Amino acid sequence: MHVAIFGTGYVGLVSGTCLAEVGHEVTCVDVDQGKIEGLRQGIIPIYEPGLEPMVKANHAEGRLKFTTDAGEAIAGAEIIFIAVGTPPDEDGSADLQYVLAVARTIGRHLQAPAIVVDKSTVPVGTADKVRETIAGELAARGMDVVFDVVSNPEFLKEGAAVEDCMRPDRIVLGSSNPASIERLRKLYAPFNRSHDRIVVMDVRSAELTKYAANAMLATKISFMNEIARIAEAVGADVEHVRRGIGSDPRIGWHFIYPGAGYGGSCFPKDVQALARTAAQNGLDPLLLKAVEAVNERQKGHLFELVLRHYGGAAVLRGKTFAIWGLAFKPDTDDMREASSRRLLQQLWDAGAKVRAFDPEACDEARRIFGQRPDLVLCDAAEQALEGADALAVVTEWKQFRSPDFARLRQVLGDAVLFDGRNLYEPEDVEAAGIAYWAIGRGR
Ligand code: UGA
Repeated sequence: MHVAIFGTGYVGLVSGTCLAEVGHEVTCVDVDQGKIEGLRQGIIPIYEPGLEPMVKANHAEGRLKFTTDAGEAIAGAEIIFIAVGTPPDEDGSADLQYVLAVARTIGRHLQAPAIVVDKSTVPVGTADKVRETIAGELAARGMDVVFDVVSNPEFLKEGAAVEDCMRPDRIVLGSSNPASIERLRKLYAPFNRSHDRIVVMDVRSAELTKYAANAMLATKISFMNEIARIAEAVGADVEHVRRGIGSDPRIGWHFIYPGAGYGGSCFPKDVQALARTAAQNGLDPLLLKAVEAVNERQKGHLFELVLRHYGGAAVLRGKTFAIWGLAFKPDTDDMREASSRRLLQQLWDAGAKVRAFDPEACDEARRIFGQRPDLVLCDAAEQALEGADALAVVTEWKQFRSPDFARLRQVLGDAVLFDGRNLYEPEDVEAAGIAYWAIGRGR
């Protein structure tokens, strides 16, 4: 089938590549000329395991094209995806300007019947706005072209995006038009072989499903972070508690890891946007507000542990902190809303210096922070330790999982380790003579 995809960010690029991989003819459109030029030469703008070879192979075989020419992409497409960003507006609601700009473009170029698919995370009611916008443009051109707007939210995770896209656990299709559903069933058939993963519903329910999924996951994390605080206060170990509750299948093992707070481009923005939708509809979203507030507080928790260890901020002036991990989670170079950003700022405000290492995000950190005398970005974990007084682990990259504690004891001036992801056993760290501070582990 012939597909056009607007937006070559995480969702658009990964979805487009996976659709080409199973044999569809895909044209990815972006307004960013540089990005499109780069993609044509095999330069992938994001770090995502497995993506680069797949883009290159499908591009070389002619199934995956990149263009800035919207008209050309729309002309040949029977299915048109909208996968552009929906950044938070000042009041926390999702900013729809990019989605609606694409809708206008579609309306200006559409010649033949097509299905327009909203893949971006968009507030309930957006499909109706997209429909009105396209219809308005068509009317202005005096054209009468049949089109439908379907909501098909994306559930892929950064760092596992290709895998999630090739083997989705569900494919949500929101539309009341059986013909559109049939077309999309055909499009997704290669991803839907062993059992039926397609869940059909009305368009508003599909839009809400996406927010409900992310808000539920964020709620689990904030809940565990609250339990971690209680564990600290009462002298319990949240890691025992986690193991004790995860075995209950009603609770499950996923997303109950306490830590330095959730980040990324989705949870913070989506929880806020859903709360905003609730408020706009006259509701008071008590739980969502609490999920966000707990997370905001949690992002400052590692620094609180630093203050507890050192007995206040005054002694931090002139100290050097090694930081392992800057990305908001492993296997990505994305630092949007990352907890590391809060910790770095708090350390700098207290007059401390930072030597940081991340396997993928150092370039991104350079772009965000620029040159500053109190930041050294290192090429290796070991290098970050040189001359450091303390170590803080903020992202759980695999390579940070089993450090040589005896070596850490030798190099860290103050022999102290702050663990924002509970990667180590307290006995192992303390046996090496290092003070160990983790999340919710009984201090
Ligand atoms: C999230 C969802 O997991 C995807 O299903 C969804 O498609 C995506 O948002 C989206 O809306 O596009 P992502 O933002 O890539 O995916 O990251 P996650 O793996 O969900 O992690 C989010 C944050 O939660 C990270 O900062 C992570 O460290 C934190 N986290 C996760 C915890 O603190 N504890 C946990 O137990 C799990």
